[in-house]
Amino acid sequence: MPVTVIVGAQWGDEGKGRVVDYFAAQAAIVARFNGGDNAGHTVIAEGHKLALHLVPSGILYPHVTCLIGAGTVVNPLTLLREIQTLRDIGVDVSPAHLKLSAAAHLVLPTHRVLDGAADMKRGYEAIGTTKRGIGPAYADKMARVGLRAGQMRDPNHFAEAVGTLVDAHNERLVNLYGLPAQSTDQIVAQLHQAAVELAPYLVDGTALVGRALAEGKLVIGEGAQGTLLDINLGTYPFVTSSSPVSGGLLTGLGVGPKEVTRVVGIAKAYTTRVGAGPFPTELTDVLGERIREAGHEYGTTTGRPRRCGWLDAVLLRYAAQVNGLTDIALSKLDILSGLPSLRIAVAYDLDGERIEHFPAEWGAEAVSRCRPIYEELPSWEEDISGVRRREDLPAAAQAYVARIEELVGVPITFISVGPEREAMIVP
Ligand code: GDP
Ligand code: IMO
Ligand code: MG
Repeated sequence: MPVTVIVGAQWGDEGKGRVVDYFAAQAAIVARFNGGDNAGHTVIAEGHKLALHLVPSGILYPHVTCLIGAGTVVNPLTLLREIQTLRDIGVDVSPAHLKLSAAAHLVLPTHRVLDGAADMKRGYEAIGTTKRGIGPAYADKMARVGLRAGQMRDPNHFAEAVGTLVDAHNERLVNLYGLPAQSTDQIVAQLHQAAVELAPYLVDGTALVGRALAEGKLVIGEGAQGTLLDINLGTYPFVTSSSPVSGGLLTGLGVGPKEVTRVVGIAKAYTTRVGAGPFPTELTDVLGERIREAGHEYGTTTGRPRRCGWLDAVLLRYAAQVNGLTDIALSKLDILSGLPSLRIAVAYDLDGERIEHFPAEWGAEAVSRCRPIYEELPSWEEDISGVRRREDLPAAAQAYVARIEELVGVPITFISVGPEREAMIVP
């Protein structure tokens, strides 16, 4: 059987965790293919509220193998903490259930310090990263000096390699940023211990996925972040350092494009963004504030308030193209209940010219000059969190969903109306 890939269609936090949890019921493998513990994916089910950072969102299903794939960057210390947190509430996170690809790269404590220092140095052009060391870890990977998870199989050799890399990081911390060096001995000791504990989780992830596909099983690819945070296709430089789009799954798990038969883009019924960077439909007034409070729009990883704005069909059309979306899952439609009226950006005005295509290639500066051209739609008053069939939604909500489908050209197959597992309208 095939691969279904689930990606964020906007700037992250679209509700990927809850949708992956839904799909996981049918899956043999749920695999993260990009990013690291910068992600925060919420799953609310079976009496638990999980905030997952590295562990895939299929973890509540005993029959699912959860894989942290080759394209990710993994902080061994935070992974161990996350495993412990899950174990404490009775979730099975044994090596039989959770696996770590040997090709995943590792995030060291010094990557985190470097991340903070580099973003600080950008001054008013700071990206507002999650400070989890993601950029510096991917930079080391690309420079071919990074550490791979597979090296933890031999904790002693691994500890030596950690020492060498930490020394190199310390040189930059001291000489480039004027910061104190981190204790190499302490980090080496911590990481040695972590390697001993994580070694049983290591697998050849590509082989694991290949076997499942050969046996006709369903593999779910769980994207982290979102399309507009993609290193190639997002609002550069205000992006993350990995590829959250469907293409990222191919290299991030090691599967060919023919295996992918379904690409589900998660889109919030409005738009949010954490951190800096252009956001054409942002609402900086009381309405934005109202959406933030209604939607509890505060970061799952950093607790930062998320910037909120109207739904942007220009952005979603772009996401549909670059991911090859076959379906959209629209989340948080319940949050729009009771707003005076609704707006959708249908095009942009860029320097006096109407454009229909999201100008990501021209970079953040061009996107920041885009003025949204809105279409106004009627709103609805009713609480819709109990609705389970599309035809039972208020007429205005049905019209809102249908208009998005028309503007984006992709069917909205799933509509989420609450954070809990069952609060979803499915086909
Ligand atoms: P992710 O990073 O894409 O997995 O999304 P996050 O978990 O960071 O943020 C989504 C937030 O919205 C979480 O707190 C979810 O519990 C919540 N959520 C997801 N879908 C819905 C929905 O349809 N309605 C409401 N009210 N909350 C939702
Ligand atoms: P999930 O998977 C929302 C943002 C950061 C910052 C930029 C770069 O939960 O949707 P990084 O630490 O990756 O170098 O930060 O990307 N960012 C996210 N925003 N959701 C996320 O993950 C994010 N992961 C990173 O706020 O603007
Ligand atoms: Mg999140």
